[in-house]
Amino acid sequence: MLTSSFPSVNLSHKPTPLERLDNLSDDYQTNIWIKRDDCTGLAFGGNKSRQLEYYIGHAKSLGADTLLTTGAIQSNHVRMTVAAARKTNMDVEVQLEHRVDRDQVEYHESGNPFLVKIMGAKIHYYAVGEDEDGADQAMIDRAEVLKAEGKNPYVIPLSNANTPYGALGYVEAAEETLQQLESMGIQPERFIVPTGSASTHAGFLLGLRACGCQIPVQGICVRRDAASQKKRVITKIQSVSKLMNL
Ligand SMILES: Cc1ncc(COP(=O)(O)O)c(C=O)c1O
Repeated sequence: MLTSSFPSVNLSHKPTPLERLDNLSDDYQTNIWIKRDDCTGLAFGGNKSRQLEYYIGHAKSLGADTLLTTGAIQSNHVRMTVAAARKTNMDVEVQLEHRVDRDQVEYHESGNPFLVKIMGAKIHYYAVGEDEDGADQAMIDRAEVLKAEGKNPYVIPLSNANTPYGALGYVEAAEETLQQLESMGIQPERFIVPTGSASTHAGFLLGLRACGCQIPVQGICVRRDAASQKKRVITKIQSVSKLMNL
């Protein structure tokens, strides 16, 4: 495995199934397959558990006992970080950012923030919207306080300037997907991935290319225009290549 020299922990049911979407395929007169990473199993599943396997592996290799991370009020990443911390016996503090202008109590109290609360994370709030560096800095400042109290915190950062250990999870997923496609005799024309922090997109694309697969990868961005996201994906691919000595 391309990522086997990196420390990781086991948080996900893998391999996740690769399924044909029969009705959608019939509607569009084509073959559409889905990689069921909603079935990773941790705290309702999703793509973050593969990423957290490598972040927590790195954290544990540094002797960390507390995870810190930041994200939007309804962040899936935050919910799954708290679940992963619980599963790996780490303390956890999260910061919820006011990224969208919504006052409804449901937005602030139900769904992910509710789950974060019942899983027992310590919660901080960050008032500014899109301010990745500021949000990371607030977590780094909080980590300094924890260090002074004798803890060994590990910050899972948001900004693209940081080493993207999480993207290694999607390098692994690319290898897993290629093995499934081969054993099922499927030759896709393209892959379509969601792209936000770009860890999924960058890791998957790099993993394919590292395996010699040249099939195009199209990202559907959840929060930026195409030009800004393209820059982000390229920067992240460069960081992951460097991390993996590719
Ligand atoms: C369910 C889900 N899928 C995909 C993404 C995008 O993944 P990534 O942050 O790795 O780009 C996110 C987060 O933005 C998400 O919550």
